Amino acid sequence: MWLKALLLSFCRWCNSSFFGHGIRDSVWLFPFVEIFHLIGLGVLGGTLLVLNLRLLGLGFRGESASDLEKDVRPWMVGSLALMLGSGFLLFSTEAVKMYGNWAFRWKMIFLASAIVYTFTLYRKVVRSEEGRIATLWRVVVAILSVLLWTGVGLGGRAIAYVTTSASSISISAR
Ligand code: HEM
Repeated sequence: MWLKALLLSFCRWCNSSFFGHGIRDSVWLFPFVEIFHLIGLGVLGGTLLVLNLRLLGLGFRGESASDLEKDVRPWMVGSLALMLGSGFLLFSTEAVKMYGNWAFRWKMIFLASAIVYTFTLYRKVVRSEEGRIATLWRVVVAILSVLLWTGVGLGGRAIAYVTTSASSISISAR
């Protein structure tokens, strides 16, 4: 209950902030910020695709997964930072609406899970020496990565199609 109240007051603060207002009241700022959200999406998706194809043994076999991870790491971390920053700005324009938007909520659940997973178990397996980790386990780890990040992307795409009812924005005693 207190968490819902805290989240809703944070959303109200974002909504009435100068950057939330500024982007919302501008004709071109929202699409401009969304361009960066989509560029980040492409680069992040690309780095994950390279690493997961390597883990699945379907590509990039000329290099070990850990060497590939070293090469793509700055792009992965940089694009993730771009997604989080641009996403927060997009969110701030309609934060209260996002509070009641079930697609946004699922997106954030998938996003938190995908980030924790990518920087813990996934990174451990990617950096492990070839042959030390069973091939089947590398395949499972790659498939879970694809599923988690696809969940984030689908949630992001669905946001615009979900209408937010007034009742979903209130703090009910349910
Ligand atoms: C790596 C992380 C992320 C990924 C992969 C992602 C993915 C996406 C995708 C695919 C879209 C739909 C773009 C379109 O079709 O126009 C989208 C839109 C959006 N995302 Fe993200 N996103 C991420 C992080 C975030 C974060 C952290 C937030 C907020 C805190 C956020 C808020 C939004 C909002 C508000 C929209 C716009 C929905 C609309 O069109 O009204 N995103 N995102």
